[in-house]
Amino acid sequence: MDAHLDDNESIRVVTVGHVDHGKSTLIGRLIYDLGQVQDGKYEELKKVTKKRGMGFEWAFLLDALQTERNQGITIDTTQIFFKTKKRNYIFIDAPGHKEFLRNMITGASSADLAILIVDVEEGIQEQTKKHGYLLKLLGITDVVVVFNKMDKIKFDEQKFLEVKVKLDNFLNKIGVVVNNIIPVSATSGENINNKSTKMNWYKGLNLVQAIDDYEVKKELSSLPFRMPIQDIYKFDDKRIIVGKIESGTLSNKDKLLFSPSNSVATIKTIETWPKNKRDVFQAGECIGIVLNEKNFLEKGDVISHNSNPPNLVNTFEANIFWLSEQKINLSKKYILKLATSEHKITFKKILKVIDTESLDKKEKNIVKKNDVAEVVINSLSLVTADNFALNPKLGRFSIVDNYSVVGGGIINLKDYPNQRNFINKPNKNIIPFDFSITETDRTSRLEHRPGIIWFTGLSGSGKSTIAREIEKRLFFKGYNVFVLDGDNLRQGLNKDLSFSPEDRTENIRRTAEVASLFSYAGFLVIISLISPYRSERKKARSIRPEIFREIYIKSSLEKCIERDTKGLYAKAKKGMIENFTGISAPYEKPESPDLVLDTQKNNIKDTVGLLENYIVSEFGISKN
Ligand code: ADX
Repeated sequence: MDAHLDDNESIRVVTVGHVDHGKSTLIGRLIYDLGQVQDGKYEELKKVTKKRGMGFEWAFLLDALQTERNQGITIDTTQIFFKTKKRNYIFIDAPGHKEFLRNMITGASSADLAILIVDVEEGIQEQTKKHGYLLKLLGITDVVVVFNKMDKIKFDEQKFLEVKVKLDNFLNKIGVVVNNIIPVSATSGENINNKSTKMNWYKGLNLVQAIDDYEVKKELSSLPFRMPIQDIYKFDDKRIIVGKIESGTLSNKDKLLFSPSNSVATIKTIETWPKNKRDVFQAGECIGIVLNEKNFLEKGDVISHNSNPPNLVNTFEANIFWLSEQKINLSKKYILKLATSEHKITFKKILKVIDTESLDKKEKNIVKKNDVAEVVINSLSLVTADNFALNPKLGRFSIVDNYSVVGGGIINLKDYPNQRNFINKPNKNIIPFDFSITETDRTSRLEHRPGIIWFTGLSGSGKSTIAREIEKRLFFKGYNVFVLDGDNLRQGLNKDLSFSPEDRTENIRRTAEVASLFSYAGFLVIISLISPYRSERKKARSIRPEIFREIYIKSSLEKCIERDTKGLYAKAKKGMIENFTGISAPYEKPESPDLVLDTQKNNIKDTVGLLENYIVSEFGISKN
């Protein structure tokens, strides 16, 4: 549940239960017993209903109180305000399950506390089980349970206990924690805001006490620190990382951890607009951070502390609400937006689909508009996330297709491995030794500084040809230059690797590490690798961002197929080569490459000339 409380903000309460179980009656009665119904309203309604020959219903009072309709287009919720001696509350309600689920999952409305209403006379039937499941689906783990209609069972303790055991068992099984189970009668006002004399055997809290007793544990500032990067402002040499603190607090002495790169840095200054002299900043504040170290960061990365960092996952479970007219397509790529990050994802599996009208489980695992589903999501890039139940700010996402939102969801990380455990894990027993000859010593002998010139592009786009040409030209200029070519590396260092996504990731990683070594030796290294994944190229850059340049060797797939210099496209089309980039495997174009070389528009000579000028201006040192 979303908790976002300042001291004087209201607690948001949802009620879950069947209308017949007395949901409206309970709320009407509660507000009346708290003395918050306008003077004369109750009497007036009583008179009106009598005149019409009807019995008075507390629910009528509720209708009369429902004046606050929210006007938002996506928010289809009723809000009713009330207060106890302790604090303010808002009841949020929706006309049906569908609206309720949609609002809660997409975050259009959110709640701090749930009240589950059960008709004690009826006992634990399908309906209540479905409502219990609904709470679980929404990631709501704390509930107050009200056993209503105690008058119908003559306030009998025995019967109450029987139903209580059954409910406890069921909720326990699905992982929902019950704070209190209260026997009440909404119609006659027993144990709502009083100690019922008809149930002396009950020693627990009444409803008002129980909701007042609820501790807002999840106050955002007390959660672990999370700040998704919104933007990076560049002023000459200065970089200011800006974003909103979504949870936790930040002090200017804190050490920072960045995800997904898993890199660390310390704070030089914290900047605010207008200027602010404080040392500690809270959830909800927008700030800018200037670091002492140079780090390659971008929008979407998340800043946390070293302890209690978010998880890094590429596979996880989620409960989603589907909004699109088109059903979920398992072979399609969607965009997942979480905080300020975006990821390309696919739905790997549909575990369960629920009809939001009846809350029944559907027979077929096909997700259509207005369905709720439990799914497994696969992301090509690492997603920085928290379990929704632990931190809603990094546990909720939306799904986008073709620029429109097609669904919303909440994350359940379950037992999927935290990828942080596998990346960049420094081995404490390995102590890097300092070079006796520094990089500056090496460079001062040369005509240039070291550099990592990373070519990415489709097979047949011209990477190797350009690499060979530029190597020659630079060599004769006196450069220490060397080409690392994908095909060549795959003969030796990388000969154990296939073209599966995992192996390609490893191929890119190894090549980047070798390139980094060459650069420490003072070389200008040219890398010629399809390197189809944006996220992996980003990791390659992060090894030595200051000297890394991404060069996009641009040519349309059609043109590459037409060239088909190695005859591989023809084979791939016939299905003779698996995972062939462009045919049966993806290629992610660079979003902001340092240089684009269009081999379709320009001839090789011009292209290499352009590249040569670029390299000389970026890395060349004039000796005169
Ligand atoms: S990468 O995707 O892992 O970066 P890399 O650049 O090392 O690829 O190797 C690409 C070269 O391997 C291509 O130029 C082509 O000659 C050859 N090759 C063989 N199988 C494939 C395939 N399935 N997809 C792409 N290239 C392939």
